[in-house]
Amino acid sequence: MSKILVTGGTGYIGSHTVVELHHAGYTPVIIDDLSNSNLQILDQIEKIIGLKPEFHQFDLCDSTKVEDFVKNNPDVSGIIHFAASKAVGESVAKPLKYYHNNFFSLINVLQAYQGKPINFVFSSSCTVYGEPDVLPVTETAPVKKATSPYGNTKQIAEEILSETALAHDNYNVIALRYFNPVGAHESALIGELPLGVPQNLLPFITQTAIGKREKLTVFGGDYDTVDGSCVRDYIHVVDLAKAHVAAIKLLEKGNPNGSYDVFNVGTGIGYSVFQTIAAFEKASGQKLNYEVGPRRDGDVVQVWGDVNKSSAALGWTATLGIDEMMSSAWAWEKYLQENPLG
Ligand code: WQD
Repeated sequence: MSKILVTGGTGYIGSHTVVELHHAGYTPVIIDDLSNSNLQILDQIEKIIGLKPEFHQFDLCDSTKVEDFVKNNPDVSGIIHFAASKAVGESVAKPLKYYHNNFFSLINVLQAYQGKPINFVFSSSCTVYGEPDVLPVTETAPVKKATSPYGNTKQIAEEILSETALAHDNYNVIALRYFNPVGAHESALIGELPLGVPQNLLPFITQTAIGKREKLTVFGGDYDTVDGSCVRDYIHVVDLAKAHVAAIKLLEKGNPNGSYDVFNVGTGIGYSVFQTIAAFEKASGQKLNYEVGPRRDGDVVQVWGDVNKSSAALGWTATLGIDEMMSSAWAWEKYLQENPLG
């Protein structure tokens, strides 16, 4: 079975992708420095797929360790690269940490595969679009100046990948531009594990609902949107994980669109913050304690994706709706209350 390297594979999206790779008949092998996750995730994955994935713990910024791994693992045919720092707010406070970690890890992996045929799937983000001029946003929309060092690392990483794939014919690359990943595996054994106070909406909602947080603050209720709150394209993390398997399959088959390609990975449906809260209350049966507060700097007002290219060329479409996103996120929060991880 094809061996697929999953960097950052004990993280939120990485762990779900490891599960889906296994289900699709691949052998995932994980490299993770555990800076934003922990070893227990491997046990959780084992409970789901019946075996513990091969795991190597080291920092991809250590080029010697990366080169040794590649030398010792010649049977890796594809890479899904999640490993990166990803907190927007933290990136503003610590830009050097983000530029160092996100670029050195990517470049070390690419350099270690110089001259070797490799299929490479990159974890990118809708943040590259900034505030789109036209909605839904398509892959041909202009990439706008990032509003954070994190977003900038995604934009520049895409440029590094496209130019590398253009210059060297051994790299076949797909960048997946995620919208807002939410939810958890149906087993409630893996899910989002925010460290400290959650920055993202869904973990804050579920932690408020379970009593870990006193109340949710809605960052702004006076935007020019359907109900005054910001609109996002939330996508179930299992659908997102399956998009990575579809990308590997397309690369293995040969992408007729060339050696570098990008795909939007969303549902194509936008939900406002208030609509998301209502969907959570309906799915969980929990009344949420929230108030409307000031706007959050840097927030995009509205963004949702055009996913026609993904369904036509990637052969992938999201299948799980907002109800399953909310109910699976709630089931995971309840699981964590009884089984604290990390
Ligand atoms: C969603 C909405 C907030 C928290 C994030 C990442 C980005 C990308 C997509 C991967 C916004 C509102 C939030 C809260 C709130 N991820 N909100 N109260 O900012 O759209 O993007 O996911 O690449 O990198 O930053 O997600 O969940 O932070 O916010 O009102 O306590 O919820 O204002 O409108 P965001 P988010």
